[in-house]
Formats: sequence, structure tokens, C-alpha cells
Amino acid sequence: MTATKPHAGVLSAHPDRPTRLPARPFFSSGPCAKPPTWSPDKLATQSLGRSHRAKIGKTRLQLCIDLMREVLQLPDSHRIGIVPGSDTGAFEMAMWTMLGARPVTTLAWESFGEGWVTDAVKQLKLDPTVIRADYGALPDLALVDWTNDVLFTWNGTTSGVRVPNADWIPADRAGLSFADATSAVFAYDIDWAKIDVATFSWQKVLGGEGAHGVLILGPRAVERLENYAPAWPLPKVFRLTAKGKLADGVFKGETINTPSMLAVEDAIFALEWARDLGGLAGLKARSDANAAALDAIVAKRDWLGHLAADPATRSKTSVCLTVEGADEDFIKKFAALLEAEGAAFDIAGYRDAPPGLRIWCGATVDTADLEALGPWLDWAWAALKA
Ligand SMILES: Cc1ncc(COP(=O)(O)O)c(C=O)c1O
Repeated sequence: MTATKPHAGVLSAHPDRPTRLPARPFFSSGPCAKPPTWSPDKLATQSLGRSHRAKIGKTRLQLCIDLMREVLQLPDSHRIGIVPGSDTGAFEMAMWTMLGARPVTTLAWESFGEGWVTDAVKQLKLDPTVIRADYGALPDLALVDWTNDVLFTWNGTTSGVRVPNADWIPADRAGLSFADATSAVFAYDIDWAKIDVATFSWQKVLGGEGAHGVLILGPRAVERLENYAPAWPLPKVFRLTAKGKLADGVFKGETINTPSMLAVEDAIFALEWARDLGGLAGLKARSDANAAALDAIVAKRDWLGHLAADPATRSKTSVCLTVEGADEDFIKKFAALLEAEGAAFDIAGYRDAPPGLRIWCGATVDTADLEALGPWLDWAWAALKA
């Protein structure tokens, strides 16, 4: 996909204006850039306009599930299914169906983790233990009591801070681990034996569409579902069991309700692209190269910095940057200038985060485009300072 031709920005005639634009200035942290080879006419459409329960629909849903398993290197111990409501739908489905059986700990170091705290406290009224850190930091993971169910965000998309690995999750935990992994899967190695529940949406690292979430369940989560019924009512779109047994069909493409087959076909395209570039290793290599290219840009500019203090827990997908002296207004103008020039779309930090930039480095972004962005950042900085 290429950018639509930008209208000339107000400062197009500025003498220091860079001459080379990123070919695909799509740096949004969600929905993220489409895969580089993507175009809508390349999507298979035979399943559209048909029942999703017809053979063709079920076959395509199953293919999508099989490709996700292959690219994620998900072991057979874990089920993977397509559910409604994007990542939020998938994570809340897990919360609403499984929590309440034992005490809960929620970890939060940015906006999305805070969202799950709000769900646990205000909606489910669970009185969880909340372990927090400020934007840019990670809480002390050693404080977690694993007799509790534990909710965390693998990659905090709005602060650019991630967990380093799953070593802090004990193999013999009594509680379940719930990972909101939406901007982490397909970018990092995940030790699936440590994960009881994980969720994501195609709209992040794969550059797919929102609307659907993906729910991954390990054996201990299935055991919880089959042996525990929460005290609160469950809407139909959250129901994962029937007569005390797991609704297995959900993990074979028999979705709870009608999916968007167009979004499914789009995900299949992205997954085939991912598989053909070497699967998880290929995706990680692209994301690592992108994060390194952006890091090199930051290192050369004293007015730019990383919001995530510790490189070991710094995101390689949603990279959040501080800009010297910038307030919300400055960032708004900075991002608008670059958007008007067609140099960068959607790079203002998240609304709840400290004012700064957020530049997606996931696998669907091309490293050359990040390299081309550097001079444009200088240009916008100089233009606004002038
Ligand atoms: C960590 C995290 N969790 C949840 C969400 C919500 O995802 P969705 O809009 O796909 O439901 C996002 C979206 O950016 C996210 O980054």
C-alpha cells in the first residue's frame, strides 16, 4: 500500500525540507501499517457473501487459525480461537468467564493495563491487588503473588514498556496468568508454557483489521472454564462453555456469532506474508531492525529520548519518545506538520500518556521508511522552534 499523495504542507518551501519521503509513512500504533505487499485486490473473496458456516467459510476460518498457530509457534497444549470485539473483546471475555475463582492481581504501567484494573475494580468488583508503575517504568515483577490470578499487558502500547520475558512467571503457579499480548505477539518470543490466557487482535503486528480478537487458552484455563461458573451474568458473545464443557467449536472456526470474512481474509493474507518471510523469526528480525533504526535516530538527537528508561524492557513495537520541552500542543503541531507533508501519519503519543511521540516499529513497517523519517523529525523540530 502506498500513501495517498499528500497536499503540500505550509512549510513545503522551507530550505531545509528533506527531499526523500518515507515510501509508506504509516507509523500508527494501531491499526498498524498493512504488510508491504498488501493491496485489497490481492485478498481472496470466495468466502464473502456466503454463510460463514458453509464449507468455504469454515475452511478459511480454520486456515486462519492454523496459520496463526504456525507463525506463533503455538504448542498443541494451547487452543486458539477467533472471537468478537478485537483485543478488548477477547481480554474481557477471558476476565468475565474466568475471574472470581481466586484473588486477583492486576499489573498496570500504562493506559491499557489501567483499563483492565478498571474492569476488575469497577465492573467485576473484585477488589484486586493492583501493582502499578508510572509511564516509562515497569513495576517490580517479583512482588507478584502467584497464588492469585494475574493480569498483565505484555507490551504496554502507550508507554513503550514491555515485560522482558516470562521468567518471572513460575511454572508451578496456582493462579492463572492472563496476558494482553496484542502488541507483543509476532514480535517477541513467548514462553507459552507460562501463559494460561493470551489475547490479541490482527490490527497490530500483522497489520490486519480490528473487529475480531484472538483468544489463546492453555490447559489450566480450560480447566477453569469447565469447573467454575462466575457469579455474574454472561452475554452470549462471552460464553465459552455449554453444559459445563468448553465450546470446542470456537477453536475450530465455529465462531460464536457472525465474523467479518473480509477481516479474516485480510488476516490470512498477512499471515501468509509472515510465513513466507520466515514466520516468527522473520517478523522479529524486521521489528528488531526497525527498533534499532529508530534507536539510532534517537541516539543522534539530544532533544529526543526514550520514555522507557530501561532498554531491557523497552518496546520493539510501540516505541514511545520524549521530546525536550514538548507539551500536548507542541506534539499536536509536530505530528500535524509531518502528516501534512506525508512524512509520518499518527505519531503523536497516546492521549493518556505524557506528551511525546509514538512510532510503530512492528514488522509491517519498512526499515528504510524509519531511516527516511529521521530528517523529517529534525525538520519539524526546527520549523516549530523557529
Ligand atoms: C495493549 C493494548 N490492549 C488493548 C488494546 C485495545 O485493542 P482493540 O482496540 O483491538 O480492542 C490496545 C490497542 O491499542 C492495546 O495496545
